[in-house]
Amino acid sequence: MKRDFIDTATYTKEELTDIVELSLAIKRAIARGYYPQLMKDMTLAMIFQQSSTRTRVSFETAMSQMGGHAQYLGPGMIQLGGHETIGDTGKVLSHLVDIVMARVIEHKSVVELARSCSVPVLNGMSDYNHPTQEIGDMCTIFENLPRGKRLEDCKVVFVGDGTQVCASLGFITTKMGMHFVHYGPQGHQLNEGHKEILEANCRLSGGSWQVTDDRSAVRGADFIYTDVWYGLYENEMPKEERVRVFHDYQVNREMMQLGNLGCKFMHCLPATRGEDVTDEVADSDASLCWEQAGNRLTAMRGLLVYLTYGQRQFCGTRIAAAKEELDGFLRERLGGRGNEG
Ligand code: CP
Repeated sequence: MKRDFIDTATYTKEELTDIVELSLAIKRAIARGYYPQLMKDMTLAMIFQQSSTRTRVSFETAMSQMGGHAQYLGPGMIQLGGHETIGDTGKVLSHLVDIVMARVIEHKSVVELARSCSVPVLNGMSDYNHPTQEIGDMCTIFENLPRGKRLEDCKVVFVGDGTQVCASLGFITTKMGMHFVHYGPQGHQLNEGHKEILEANCRLSGGSWQVTDDRSAVRGADFIYTDVWYGLYENEMPKEERVRVFHDYQVNREMMQLGNLGCKFMHCLPATRGEDVTDEVADSDASLCWEQAGNRLTAMRGLLVYLTYGQRQFCGTRIAAAKEELDGFLRERLGGRGNEG
């Protein structure tokens, strides 16, 4: 049965750990020069209703490195949700490609796409969450655990606007048993629906969560993470207003000093330098944001393989028989010696 990757809520801690460890295993293999052709001859359709740098480039690179191909279907390039329904688009794509990724404006669009597709569908970010970012970020955290600490000992503080990246970070860290804080201004904090999920995750995992505008909650952070202050999608705030609302929430040297010794800085990017983070922090030795961007590729490789592995099981004798049949057709009907490729 096909599995989608729309929301980490439908995955257990053990499954998410498998995806992260698979991603890191492929990363290690490629770093040593072995490019596993695990997506050989497969095609990924990438639907983007919004622009993207990291998500688009990492999916496309992941497919080509592993023997497959990705098709970029940018804003306005296909008939999605206009004259043709999302459901019909999903049914059509299922006959044309092996796997689908969609970055959508409204979360319900990617849910509907997954429902109508018979091939796996990945959520490349919606107004609700950003689960492929979660896997990349967890790869980065696995690779940068503070000396002597386990995952479950670490505190992750998201500073600023309660974006879909903030929600996603909360979802995965609490599922993994970590200690998550959202430090953000009233009116821009994670909502009651998010809190119910954080609470349910912590009950299972032994982690903890807090949503607050009390700056002292940043103390003891092992990782301080932020995102842009734009407000979500159509609620994007004018610069003057967002600086007024969020100016105490800039990640700068003083903010980083509230964290533990060796505290790391994280950002999903793109950043608005001078607003959500200072140049000094983004470019410091404590900054993991460039590594995080690289681990989007790490995560995409792992996710693509996890969702498609074992779906096509062709054995050598069946392939040879298929070639024989096609060659016979070519010889008899078109002349020549058949396909020599
Ligand atoms: N972090 C992230 O998703 O970046 P893009 O919007 O560039 O894909």
